[in-house]
Amino acid sequence: MSNVSAIILAAGAGTRMKSAYSKVVHKVCGAPLVEWVYNAGEEAGVSKTVVVVGHKSEQVVGCLGEDKLYAIQEKQLGTGHAVMCAIPNLDDGGCVLVLSGDVPLITSETLKNAIEYHSEHRFAATIITAEVENPFGYGRIIRNETGDVKAIVEEKDASAAQKLITEINSGLYCFDTGLLRAALSELTTKNAQGEYYLTDTIEILLKNGYTVGAYKMADNKEIMGINDRMQLAHAESVMRRRIAEKHMKNGVTIIDPNSTYIGPNVSIEQDSVILPGTILEGNTVIGQECEIGPSSRIIGSVIGCGSTVENSVVKESNIGSNVKIGPFAYIRPNCKVADNVKVGDFVELKNSNIGDGTKISHLTYVGDSDVGKNVNFGCGTVTVNYDSKKKYRTTIGDNAFIGCNTNLIAPVEVGDRAYTAAGSTITENVPADSLAVARNHQVNKENWVKNKKF
Ligand code: UD1
Ligand code: CA
Repeated sequence: MSNVSAIILAAGAGTRMKSAYSKVVHKVCGAPLVEWVYNAGEEAGVSKTVVVVGHKSEQVVGCLGEDKLYAIQEKQLGTGHAVMCAIPNLDDGGCVLVLSGDVPLITSETLKNAIEYHSEHRFAATIITAEVENPFGYGRIIRNETGDVKAIVEEKDASAAQKLITEINSGLYCFDTGLLRAALSELTTKNAQGEYYLTDTIEILLKNGYTVGAYKMADNKEIMGINDRMQLAHAESVMRRRIAEKHMKNGVTIIDPNSTYIGPNVSIEQDSVILPGTILEGNTVIGQECEIGPSSRIIGSVIGCGSTVENSVVKESNIGSNVKIGPFAYIRPNCKVADNVKVGDFVELKNSNIGDGTKISHLTYVGDSDVGKNVNFGCGTVTVNYDSKKKYRTTIGDNAFIGCNTNLIAPVEVGDRAYTAAGSTITENVPADSLAVARNHQVNKENWVKNKKF
């Protein structure tokens, strides 16, 4: 169907979250609730989305971006009122999805199916419904003897018999835009909560002779609304599982999906193995046949094919192929590590370029450095990049050999194939092919122990 728009309701306070933040900016798998809903609508093919904001609106705008279309609902007078605030932004002649900013598990497939169902049957409105075991708190779907939808009754307005109904209103709908606009003008606040209920538009449409449908979704997990932190954690686990399954279907092995956290914008190529306790966030890309984890955290980074990252943290960096990282390495932002590099235990890299085949095996800090190919770092090397005011760069040529416990006082350059002696503090450039020794000669005081007077 063409000309489908969306309204996302996100103006409510969400008091049960007990939070200084708007409910819809709380995150599931690293992305705000409202962003999940927004993206599901976009993926379902909507051409225009209006987000209704009110309570803590600046936070919602802050996380979705100023380039989106917002309608302000100054006072939260109910879901019907929220839609009244948004609808002047839309034209008649198409249909509109009404979505809730606190229902992040909804999928674009369900929305697409509902839109299709709605347009095939030429309904004035289609309610997305679900069967649930415990319908408490939800609006109940009232049907007549022939099974047609008659109304939605809110928990607080429901009779004892109506409360037994287990088909509930998900709070997601597809409406004919023009008919919704007309129905909204007939809403009143004559109900238990004194609010304009969007749900009352159903009875209004029926009364005016239109037909209304219900699209019952297959997976009732999708309609779960987030009202408190317990539901937030539950949604997180459902979404985490969903993301993990997407990767497993693509040929990625995840040893323990329950202890693996993969963000929505991560891509992983075939035959990579993700070990327990691993967290992959941001726009991370993992190449083929990598082994990530256990207990590694990778944020906004690219990892080339065949690399391993064991018990380590990698942030905003670019790692080549067949690189071995960890255990216990920390790669800080803006590193570019070429292929076949080893970054071993207790090694920290920051803002540095590391050439092909270089080995930084243990207990070393490389910051603000440009390191060539096949360089060997001895244990305990430190690039001394900071003089308390400014940062300086260290440059190391190809095939250089940095002795154990070398301090490289930047700015400094070590030439190609040059060596530094273990324990040296290098303050001057080292020419290519030379050995720099910058330490005191050893003095052995013989029989010193025997002769000592204390
Ligand atoms: C609503 C439905 C109920 C349904 C349930 C599904 C109504 C009257 N009831 O109830 O049938 O089963 O959702 O989760 O619609 N909002 C605004 N402005 C307002 C009021 C609400 O933007 O003035 C937003 C909220 O931020 C939220 C959404 O609308 O994102 C739903 O509001 P909420 O108060 O949670 O509705 P429920 O009582 O859960
Ligand atoms: Ca709700």
